[in-house]
Amino acid sequence: MEKKEAPTIKTQRLTLRRLTENDIPGMQKMFGNANVTKYMPGDTPPPDRHSMLKIVRARRETEWAIILNETNEFIGDCMIPSIAENYLGEIGCVLLQEHWGNGYAKEAMFAVIGHCANTLKLKRLCAKTDDQNLSAKRLIESLGFNKDAVFPEANFIGRVCDIAFYSKSIE
Ligand SMILES: CC(C)(COP(=O)(O)OP(=O)(O)OC[C@H]1O[C@@H](n2cnc3c(N)ncnc32)[C@H](O)[C@@H]1OP(=O)(O)O)[C@@H](O)C(=O)NCCC(=O)NCCS
Repeated sequence: MEKKEAPTIKTQRLTLRRLTENDIPGMQKMFGNANVTKYMPGDTPPPDRHSMLKIVRARRETEWAIILNETNEFIGDCMIPSIAENYLGEIGCVLLQEHWGNGYAKEAMFAVIGHCANTLKLKRLCAKTDDQNLSAKRLIESLGFNKDAVFPEANFIGRVCDIAFYSKSIE
């Protein structure tokens, strides 16, 4: 059976499209930066080419490369890592450090949220982050998510940290 691919989504400054092998150098740079991976879950891949290739080959229809329209460069990725009962989705985003602070993550996540509501017809979204990850918390809060709880010393997919849990209705 043919694999379903992520649909291309255009925003003012960005294009979200399926990951390709051409994105691997950018992915290696991103996951090879300790500032990027500092607060990420314990299953964050090592930045070798083989691990990146595995990610590209295992790509799902809910995972996008983020491309800057102006330069056509890979600046990060965003995803819906899980969907339950066609009701609740989880969202996440990672950018190369040199592209932080421009509102690109917000623009990409806004588009993903629109896709969740209008195409996937989900009703609710959630996001989890290390409670110390201030940039991620600012981003999630700026998208209108509510901080429901902080789970102390919790299992963030193999890494122990305080997990902030956010959610938002998109009905
Ligand atoms: C989390 C992460 C994606 C946030 O990236 P970001 O660039 O800070 O987020 P945004 O796109 O929302 O940009 C917001 C910043 O851009 C600024 N900005 C500049 N121009 C802007 C514009 N045109 N529109 C909106 N914001 C703009 C905002 O003022 C804001 O700055 P502030 O955070 O100092 O208040 C990034 O820090 C990252 O990749 N971290 C590592 C991975 C990670 O931890 N991901 C979360 C995993 S759970």
